[in-house]
Amino acid sequence: MENNRRDWFKKTGLAVLGLSLTSLESFALDDIDVSVIAEDVPVRLSSNENPYGPSQASRAAMAAAVNGSNRYAWVQTEKLAEAIAKKNGLEAGNVLMSPGSMEMLDVAGRIAAKTKGSIVISANTFGYWVNAAMQLGAERIEVPLTKDKKNDLDALLKAMRADTRLVYICNPNNPTGTVLKTQELIAFINEASKKAIVLVDEAYIEFTDEVSMCSLVKDNKNVIVVRTFSKIYGLAGARIGYAMAHADTIAVMDKLQAYIPGGVSAVSGAGALAALNDTAFITKTRTLNEAAKSFTVQEFKKLGIECISTSTNFIYFSLANYKKDFFKLLESNKIEGTGIFEEDGKWSRITIGTMEDMQKLIKAIS
Ligand SMILES: Cc1ncc(COP(=O)(O)O)c(C=O)c1O
Repeated sequence: MENNRRDWFKKTGLAVLGLSLTSLESFALDDIDVSVIAEDVPVRLSSNENPYGPSQASRAAMAAAVNGSNRYAWVQTEKLAEAIAKKNGLEAGNVLMSPGSMEMLDVAGRIAAKTKGSIVISANTFGYWVNAAMQLGAERIEVPLTKDKKNDLDALLKAMRADTRLVYICNPNNPTGTVLKTQELIAFINEASKKAIVLVDEAYIEFTDEVSMCSLVKDNKNVIVVRTFSKIYGLAGARIGYAMAHADTIAVMDKLQAYIPGGVSAVSGAGALAALNDTAFITKTRTLNEAAKSFTVQEFKKLGIECISTSTNFIYFSLANYKKDFFKLLESNKIEGTGIFEEDGKWSRITIGTMEDMQKLIKAIS
């Protein structure tokens, strides 16, 4: 899967870059510009990116910040951390910035690996970062999802051992799109954090009406909440994410970061700062995402494709009753999706793109 993503990028990366530059002129014209990836580039429904972003405010801020790129952006990064802290009712010392949230997941994994401890994680979740921790000596303990494709909190708790150093919860869960009930999640975190760090990945939380778990970090050193600007904020290629944790935990984490707070570029930081409180863009993205999702789920149903209810920008679906070769049809129509996540039931995932993207998808597979 990861290799496929890389190969695809290698093949199309330059083309995408070239086209983005020419489309810069059109940024000022539309409120939302969907021409960044132009027509001859495949429809990309693989990586849960925002097809409408970055927002106009982010684009303007990034363009302006280019001029200051001769200087390290330490001060700006600190300002961004302060703004994130304020938005979440925390102090700047509770926030650690990174070039993408993947680095924060990696740092958490390395904390577990330092003591050769085990990491408890759902069998079907966003677990790529665990591989690096395993290289350093951590053990992975996998727990199946519930029948309705949710993280199984009771089973995760039961799977914890004396050497468990970290438990990971992706909420909403990637690839299934399922969300946990707030009270159940809080109860789980309170219990599990007595024994190990609970790492909560909220990459898609802004697509839901759920509350973040970040308020728990004030009094609990064993909670780390990780968030990203790559999804609803439309800044995946800018590479910017962060962790929120108790100041003492941040102090442990930043020792495992090579360059604090220098990992975030001046340009990306400016884009993120402008995006942070751009509620109009968030609302617009959510509205457009909802419309494209409803359309796709309805059409999938007509084709006998069962979908798991999702409040994210991707859909988890079963190809068990679909008679054609789904992946071949995607390929021949230059649509990039993902592969099979669970053989049993042939479950796959598709990102919700623009309405036009989803119409192309449905046309291709009908
Ligand atoms: C659940 C989840 N967490 C983290 C990431 C990593 O995002 P980034 O490193 O771009 O912030 C992704 C990316 O797809 C994701 O789906």
